[in-house]
Amino acid sequence: TRPESLILVIFGGSGDLTKRKLIPSLYQLFKQGKLPDRFAVLGLGRTDYTDESYRPHLDESLRKYLAEGEYDASLSEQFLSSVHYLSMDPAVASDYPKLATRLSELDLLIRNPGNYIYYLSTPPSLYGVVPQHLMSVGLNRADGALRRIVIEKPFGYNLDSALELNKIYQAGFHEDQLYRIDHFLGKETVQDIMALRFANGIFEPLWNRNYIERVEITAVENMGIESRGGFYDQTGALRDMVQNHLAQLVALTAMEPPVQFNADLFRNEVVKVYQSFRPMSDEEIRRRVIRGQYTESEWKGEHHRAYREEDKIPHDSRTETFLAMKLYIDNWRWQGVPFYIRTGKMMPTKVTEIVVHFKPTPHKMFTTIDGGAVPNQLVIRIQPDEGISLKFAAKVPGSGFEVKKVAMNFTYDQLGGLASGDAYSRLLEDCMLGDSTLFTRSDAVEMSWRFFDPILRLWQEEDFPLYGYPAGTWGPKQSDLIIERDHSWTNPCK
Ligand code: BG6
Repeated sequence: TRPESLILVIFGGSGDLTKRKLIPSLYQLFKQGKLPDRFAVLGLGRTDYTDESYRPHLDESLRKYLAEGEYDASLSEQFLSSVHYLSMDPAVASDYPKLATRLSELDLLIRNPGNYIYYLSTPPSLYGVVPQHLMSVGLNRADGALRRIVIEKPFGYNLDSALELNKIYQAGFHEDQLYRIDHFLGKETVQDIMALRFANGIFEPLWNRNYIERVEITAVENMGIESRGGFYDQTGALRDMVQNHLAQLVALTAMEPPVQFNADLFRNEVVKVYQSFRPMSDEEIRRRVIRGQYTESEWKGEHHRAYREEDKIPHDSRTETFLAMKLYIDNWRWQGVPFYIRTGKMMPTKVTEIVVHFKPTPHKMFTTIDGGAVPNQLVIRIQPDEGISLKFAAKVPGSGFEVKKVAMNFTYDQLGGLASGDAYSRLLEDCMLGDSTLFTRSDAVEMSWRFFDPILRLWQEEDFPLYGYPAGTWGPKQSDLIIERDHSWTNPCK
């Protein structure tokens, strides 16, 4: 249920995510009447704003980051009148009494009985510090009020630090107060993977090792790291995209049907997938995991800097901006079916999609006119041009027995398009309603790290290759070699 009153406290209130995503998403919720009646946002950060100077700054972000036609000046003014700012250093314990005082003042202002959601949109290095400081002034304690904490990814830097973080949080909060956010789960099209699989009887009987040959998951972007150099160089593609977003996509594609969509039953199935990831030996990691970093190039008539030349990036950085890997899921359903996953910055396009390749027919009677194998694929396009496409062969009219690739396409436009609220609106709303189904549970974070941690450890060895790839290309050639036989990556055309 929606609380009647609430204060959302944003740590990192002057940061990038707040501007780009959180404030625009809250504005959407406000517009749709989905915020509690008595509501306030308190932005925190080291930048020296006051309420009066913070609001115009956010108004500018709304103008910039809302989709065309969504900004409305008077609505923005109304919404921003509930937004406040406190200048403090979240890393410093002695600043927290100041926070407690300010929250009490806001409580009086909006008649709030101490309902707070804390949103950690800070550098990951503060994820362990903030909850401890909150505890030191008793701000974690519920005493009948609502207290929740949302933590951005990556949750942990490796397995050990994730375990340590879980311990810190569990010392001051119950698991049902913890909302580890992975915004991919807030995407309509990601949730639709479950509808596709479990609301239809057509696909599920085929959805296993008997009929599926391999699965590819690609989430690439045509941007670099923009102004996030400081964060990105400490993070890299594995921690930024793979351990969380791509792992979730694998989980939804591979999971068993949950009995119900609730926080326990859905997340149990996610954890089971992670538990089934087949651990890799060092030698297998060397063969199956390819990391890359973009190098300078001329692309679309423009010069693009190498990653190492970007702002705040050391000239000898070995941080990966690309990762491709092959993994196996050791369970009844998926034994022997390779899952190929990849992500990269500065690739030719921005696309996220899942390609499920079905096994070929046992005997080949037809030839394809455009060469190559019969497609026999189901493509789930997460973004953009959201939709689902079943690709198969149809006979070319006329004499002979030739076939051609054709497709049955569903696009979300047919449903009136996707709601304008983005993933963050959905997840912020779920958090306010107390529904943690689409957030990552502690055991899932842990299991995912157990699988990926050995890769990070091996990468620390000097001789583990880091391949360069020119900005605007599909990554290092070596990434093709992890795909078996005569197959190759399906590069989305748009
Ligand atoms: C974020 C990563 O979690 O996801 C970014 O930190 C990445 O590096 C972004 O660009 C991609 O998300 P989306 O929703 O734009 O695909």
